[in-house]
Amino acid sequence: MSNNSCLLYLALTAFAAHFATTTAAAAKPNCGGSTSSKYIELLQPTNPPRECIYHINAYSSNVCQLRIDFAMTLAQPTVPDEQNGLWYVQCVKDYFAVNGLKLCGTEIAQHIYVPFNRTAGVKNVDLSIVLAVRAGGGGNLPTPSWKMAVTQLECPSGAAIRSGLATLAVENEQMEAIERAVQPRAGIKDGFFVAPPDCLQYFPYATGNITSFNFNGGAGVYPGNMNYAICFRRQQSTQSLELNARYFGLGTGYQRQKFQELDNYCRPQLAAAGVSEDYLMVPQATIVDSNIRATYFCGDSIQGDIVTSTNPGPLAITFNSDGNYKAGQEVGFSLSYRVL
Ligand SMILES: *[C@@H]1O[C@H](CO)[C@@H](O)[C@H](O)[C@H]1NC(C)=O
Ligand SMILES: *[C@@H]1O[C@H](CO)[C@@H](O)[C@H](O)[C@H]1NC(C)=O
Repeated sequence: MSNNSCLLYLALTAFAAHFATTTAAAAKPNCGGSTSSKYIELLQPTNPPRECIYHINAYSSNVCQLRIDFAMTLAQPTVPDEQNGLWYVQCVKDYFAVNGLKLCGTEIAQHIYVPFNRTAGVKNVDLSIVLAVRAGGGGNLPTPSWKMAVTQLECPSGAAIRSGLATLAVENEQMEAIERAVQPRAGIKDGFFVAPPDCLQYFPYATGNITSFNFNGGAGVYPGNMNYAICFRRQQSTQSLELNARYFGLGTGYQRQKFQELDNYCRPQLAAAGVSEDYLMVPQATIVDSNIRATYFCGDSIQGDIVTSTNPGPLAITFNSDGNYKAGQEVGFSLSYRVL
């Protein structure tokens, strides 16, 4: 085989592995079921119970993380109003829960990482989907559906090696990225997908798209009280992270000028109740067109803009949502990124 066809073959092998997760090789437990399979596919049953729990048992003693790639349609989160006594947007009707995290609404191509340290004695992780009663047709609640590809990632003992042969669940459009990523090393299969510690999301490919939870094509609302890291794969040659904010709408209620919704407006030096603190934190960032430099971005400050980040060390950005609600202003973000 030529080098190119070899790469193509490897890419297709990776896809075969991906498709395998949707066919024979993947375990497909039912609600209430357990599995210790490395590749697991979870699909909503025809008549889902109120509470559907999947018990994921460690595939091996080297398991260190679960990567969950998922699409789902559940009830939208509940927005505060005078009757419900809520202060911030939260998932109360339907939700998908794991390790205290609750997600709901509509997701199309989303993923999360869940720590699963078998070495530390954690034997299983439960994934639950809890549904509100849909009596008499369920009012205006959607018909619940979910599809999740769960992969048990194994870390070589004592190391989080992030390169190697891609053999896992991957999104279809990332074929090219797989070809670029293929760097076979004996014995290491999962390393490419293993995330740095404490990243809720990890994007190992050099390019891709990121959306906030329940972005729902710009019609959604993100849950409040979130604070999580979105991480990228840094290689020796990496110099910067470039973010293209195709859509950006994160809280605030100040009616400031676009380029004032930065830094101190997003995360005030003095915390005060009721002040919006929804933001995306991008270390050492510059808005390319205007040359404005900032670290915290909120409101619609970077709607339509390209932002570059040139910090040394781990490549990560942070999303924070507060415990307040600014009606109509908490839609979220849709970014494309490039690691350069
Ligand atoms: C897993 O737990 C072991 C034992 O407590 C610890 O030494 C190791 O660093 C942990 N690994 C990760 C990836 O957190
Ligand atoms: C990212 O989204 C854009 C716009 O929808 C699309 O054209 C592009 O193919 C996507 N890229 C990847 C890697 O998914």
